[in-house]
Amino acid sequence: MSTVPVPDLPETQRAWRVVKRGKPSESLVFQTDVAIPPLSPGEVLVKVQAAALNPVGWKVMSTAPDILARRPITPEHDFAGVVVDANGTEFSAGDEVIGFIPVPLQLKTGQGALTEFTKLPATHLVLKPSNVSAIEACGLPLAGETAFQALVGNGKLQAGQSVFVNGGSSAVGMNAIYIAKALGAKVVTSASSRNEEICRSAGADEFVDYTKKPLHEHFVENPPSPKFDIIFDAVALVDPALYKYSNAYMKPKGVFISTGPWPNLKSWGGSSGVSKLLSLGCEILRPSFLGGVDAKWAMVGVSHEPQDLAKLRDLVAEGKLKVVVDSVYGFEDVLGAYERIMTSRATGKVVVKVDGNL
Ligand SMILES: NC(=O)c1ccc[n+]([C@@H]2O[C@H](COP(=O)([O-])OP(=O)(O)OC[C@H]3O[C@@H](n4cnc5c(N)ncnc54)[C@H](OP(=O)(O)O)[C@@H]3O)[C@@H](O)[C@H]2O)c1
Repeated sequence: MSTVPVPDLPETQRAWRVVKRGKPSESLVFQTDVAIPPLSPGEVLVKVQAAALNPVGWKVMSTAPDILARRPITPEHDFAGVVVDANGTEFSAGDEVIGFIPVPLQLKTGQGALTEFTKLPATHLVLKPSNVSAIEACGLPLAGETAFQALVGNGKLQAGQSVFVNGGSSAVGMNAIYIAKALGAKVVTSASSRNEEICRSAGADEFVDYTKKPLHEHFVENPPSPKFDIIFDAVALVDPALYKYSNAYMKPKGVFISTGPWPNLKSWGGSSGVSKLLSLGCEILRPSFLGGVDAKWAMVGVSHEPQDLAKLRDLVAEGKLKVVVDSVYGFEDVLGAYERIMTSRATGKVVVKVDGNL
């Protein structure tokens, strides 16, 4: 943890704003005269150095109606920066911090991460460990808390258990590998072969290339020993197959945890269409005496828990958790950053350098 000189506070700031529903290129406007937000008790003002994108940003932008999404609003949720006004909280001006503005807080305050100065409750900040840069640190909160809450909250992961992380090269999946290994579990993971090395360097014990054969077929033919206690789908699969056939490779009291199936709403019958979502719903509801799956199906919905972010920060400080950065974009090139994350091929976090002097 370290303290740096307190940045000057300008009259107004530059910020990206979501002004209407649509693709990022249609929704986002770069404004140069946005007011610096006034603080309420318990809130801290932070100069943002770097912000990380998450899929929820573009998904909400492109689907949620303007009235529900309270537009205009500043996008994105994760950042690292420097405290400018600690406002009587436990922080001090000049502290280097990591912050998380989850969706409900963003809707309440209009604040986000793609802005030069943002405010948030002190409970949503932790001190940045000195062994990581702001570019790395900004990618921790949302993906990290999701993986932590899935494995520890939904999955009740114990040392010695066996976990399959579907999508080990995704931001959430990589966090899940690091966290499961730090907690003493065995980890099997999937990605395309180009990402095998990064999954293994995160600690994965075994690797499966999902592009070679459907995963459920792979595991039916090569059942893991022991069977999985937890399957964590960090890809948000709509296809029910990995869950449907899991009696062959999961323990009966296992838990299948999804990050939330995301159907392609334009393709009803396609491989990621709404019909697959209905089929997944049928599999979840079908009782085991009618041939249904023994393991429980659960969905993680990330919420900010201060102790979870503090635990993740500590793992980073101890070198047990690394935030892998896929790519870094300038503050004025945010649309390029959205293009990258929307490919679903990023390996780690897509980061925006908000402070050009970083
Ligand atoms: N419910 C919640 O609270 C919550 C919270 C966070 C995220 N999410 C959701 O979780 C998902 C992951 O988020 P993220 O930020 O981690 O995404 P991300 O980093 O953008 O994911 C990209 C990665 O996913 C991998 N991938 C894509 N399709 C795959 C497949 N079929 N099998 C294995 N790997 C695959 C890609 O690897 P390859 O190039 O090798 O395919 C790439 O490395 C998103 O759908 C997001 O919306 C939900």
